[in-house]
Amino acid sequence: MSCDTLNYEMHTCDIDGQDALSELFFETFLRSEGKQEAKLIGRLVSDLLADTSAGDLYVFVAKSADELAGGILFSRLSFDVGIEAFIMAPVAVHPDFQRRGIGQRLINYALAELCKLRVELVVTYGDPDFYTKVGFLHVEEARIPAPLNLQYPAGWLAQSLCGGEIPYLAGCSRCVPALNRPEYW
Ligand SMILES: CC(C)(COP(=O)(O)OP(=O)(O)OC[C@H]1O[C@@H](n2cnc3c(N)ncnc32)[C@H](O)[C@@H]1OP(=O)(O)O)[C@@H](O)C(=O)NCCC(=O)NCCS
Repeated sequence: MSCDTLNYEMHTCDIDGQDALSELFFETFLRSEGKQEAKLIGRLVSDLLADTSAGDLYVFVAKSADELAGGILFSRLSFDVGIEAFIMAPVAVHPDFQRRGIGQRLINYALAELCKLRVELVVTYGDPDFYTKVGFLHVEEARIPAPLNLQYPAGWLAQSLCGGEIPYLAGCSRCVPALNRPEYW
């Protein structure tokens, strides 16, 4: 099965769409990480969709015909200096669709769309082996401050969109309320 369409939506999913997205994340993490992590990530997705202001959340999905193959959420990260920045989390490609390039295509598609929307910086927190394939580089917290204490600093990654170097951002950062829980960091 191939992924023929990459659609994106901006926090306008209807209830059915939101349930399907939470289900995709739950099912994906259940198979890769187990029940506890699946519940955590499922709750994170539901909370991000329910509690994040319009304009602070972008949702991108990969669909094959009517089937949801993958999804990514980007929520606003605010710094003391004015920069349009988002954190990419979480990311999932359904196990039935993994290792076919969909994850990388979806991320590249989403980053190009965010660049058009004048987003300057995207940060993520995950496996460097995967995310360096799509342009992310490890960054020190002295360069890009994390909003909460990181349990896995090697997974703190960033990339500048639309050209330019990853900036040094002094001061603090703040994530949206749904992500503001120590267990996600
Ligand atoms: C990680 C994930 C999004 C990748 O999506 P995908 O569509 O399978 O990835 P692609 O096909 O675009 O890329 C495949 C390559 O990425 C790497 N890769 C894929 N999954 C990986 C993983 N879990 N860890 C490390 N590298 C991984 C591999 O190098 C792979 O190349 P290979 O098949 O030649 O070995 C998907 O496997 C997934 O949802 N996993 C479970 C949930 C998760 O870990 N999400 C990310 C953290 S929020």
